[in-house]
Amino acid sequence: MIGLHLEIIKEDVIIMGGGMAGLRAAISAVESNPTVSVGLVSKLYPLRSHSVSAEGGTSAVLNPKDSFDLHSFDTIKGSDYLADQDAVEEFVKIVPEQIYTTDRWGCPWSRNADGTISQRDFGGLSFPRATFAADKTGFHVMQTLFSRCQMYDRIHFYNEFFVTSAIIENNQFNCLTAINLHTGEFVAFQGKSLIFAAGGAGRLYEFSTYASSVTGDGDAIVYRAGLSLKDMEFMQFHPTGLIPSGILITEAARAEGGYLRNSENKRFMEKYAPTKLEEAPRDIVSRAMMWEILAGRGYKDEHGDTPHIHLDLTHIADKLEERLPMITDIAKKFNKIDPAEEPIPVRPATHYTMGGIDVNIFTETSVPGVFGAGENAAISIHGANRLGSNSTNECLAFGNVVGVKAAKWASSHEIPELERNKVMIEEKRIWENILKNKGGENVASIREDLRTGMDLNVGVLRTESELEKQARNIRDLKLRYENITVGDKSGVFNLQLQETLELGFMLDLAEMITVGALMRKESRGAHYRNDYPERDDKNFLKHTIIKYTREGPEFHYRDVVITKWQPAARVY
Ligand code: FUM
Repeated sequence: MIGLHLEIIKEDVIIMGGGMAGLRAAISAVESNPTVSVGLVSKLYPLRSHSVSAEGGTSAVLNPKDSFDLHSFDTIKGSDYLADQDAVEEFVKIVPEQIYTTDRWGCPWSRNADGTISQRDFGGLSFPRATFAADKTGFHVMQTLFSRCQMYDRIHFYNEFFVTSAIIENNQFNCLTAINLHTGEFVAFQGKSLIFAAGGAGRLYEFSTYASSVTGDGDAIVYRAGLSLKDMEFMQFHPTGLIPSGILITEAARAEGGYLRNSENKRFMEKYAPTKLEEAPRDIVSRAMMWEILAGRGYKDEHGDTPHIHLDLTHIADKLEERLPMITDIAKKFNKIDPAEEPIPVRPATHYTMGGIDVNIFTETSVPGVFGAGENAAISIHGANRLGSNSTNECLAFGNVVGVKAAKWASSHEIPELERNKVMIEEKRIWENILKNKGGENVASIREDLRTGMDLNVGVLRTESELEKQARNIRDLKLRYENITVGDKSGVFNLQLQETLELGFMLDLAEMITVGALMRKESRGAHYRNDYPERDDKNFLKHTIIKYTREGPEFHYRDVVITKWQPAARVY
């Protein structure tokens, strides 16, 4: 019966998300404050978070020949001038310390012969500044952070708790509601401060480098709680998702010298990015690949009917073992291809959510004591297109900032009285409205229709009619969702219920991505409109701000912060 078995867990700082930003925040919270306790709530065991699959590298200014201005400029140009330049300037300054800190904590960064930390090139960089641990950067950084967390008995892990909502009352964090997946019991997590670090939203697309767990829970929960999201129409497509699984084939493969070839066996990037070629930013490379495919120059071969491009590494076979061992292994295991001898079939796949929670440069939301960091938040340093190697460094740098902030807030505030009525309304939504619904609709079928429609209509190249079509699809899918039936009524690891709740989140996010893309009548970064192919700074050098209303998302726009770099043509 509803309301009888509510468990209430109290910690000073609550973190939603056990990926790289969440772990880094937990460490900095306890290290910056000698008494604060942290409750880290994650729907996964942290080392299964999607952060472990980050591959190629993380940028940092370590070399005296490089500079903060150069890293800032690369990032801002890469963002198609939609990044807030004050945030970028702050970001690049606080990153290097994080590389040295994780180095001291045991992260096995790849080294040069003289023992210094090695750095490689990456798309859109004007200096080779991506530090890396072979092509398993995320895995090694996550291991390092997780081990460090184990030193502190004040960090409490609540693994495999699925957060369903955030209750914010009187402009103050009241609690997170969650299902303990082990038991099916409902739990309220209360804290003095709250950090959202729950990652991106890419699994509302079908062909994706994301783990299936990346369903935008953090973004949707924040939105439903009444806080703003920002720039959600900017979804990044990584050029080299492996056909047919979508597994990431790191951009480092091209930075190490790999070529892209069309079905005429020709390299084609010279036409699209004459200087940077395959090392142009990923929005430009993804578009080039799609244009080649649309012109009939995609492969259809033993790897599948979906037209694709070949990533050729055969001429850098000598580098594979040392610099690219994981993707070599992936190509062998998943596609029976030895990249030393044959090209890898690839195609653009969703990879990163540039939008997220509207936070300022200090990781603060509009609710005091509620913060956001990592992919879940839009600070906004990536604008319309994130550069490869600017994600894990963001998790480390702003994960550190947000942990200190939340711990400081917790040291001078109290936990409010629990809003039991609000908790019961959420409990009723799940156990009465959703679990007992007999409408007959099925989660897998609605989800498949959503993902296929997003792939087809809100992809690398967008047009008004397709976006409108998808907006209508989503409205229909939302109606079907109201009739969803969860066949499994049990409490223990009820994955069907979890997937149903995740689908609800994804439908909300898909709606704002699609409508935001319809309203942005220009092309900028990862958002390319066939019908508006030019960037329009006069009308759209602005962030999209999105607010929840009962009728659907409400949009308004906010000016971008420019410090030193005036928008200019983006040529590579
Ligand atoms: O291709 C990659 O290794 C991805 C890196 C990134 O997204 O930063």
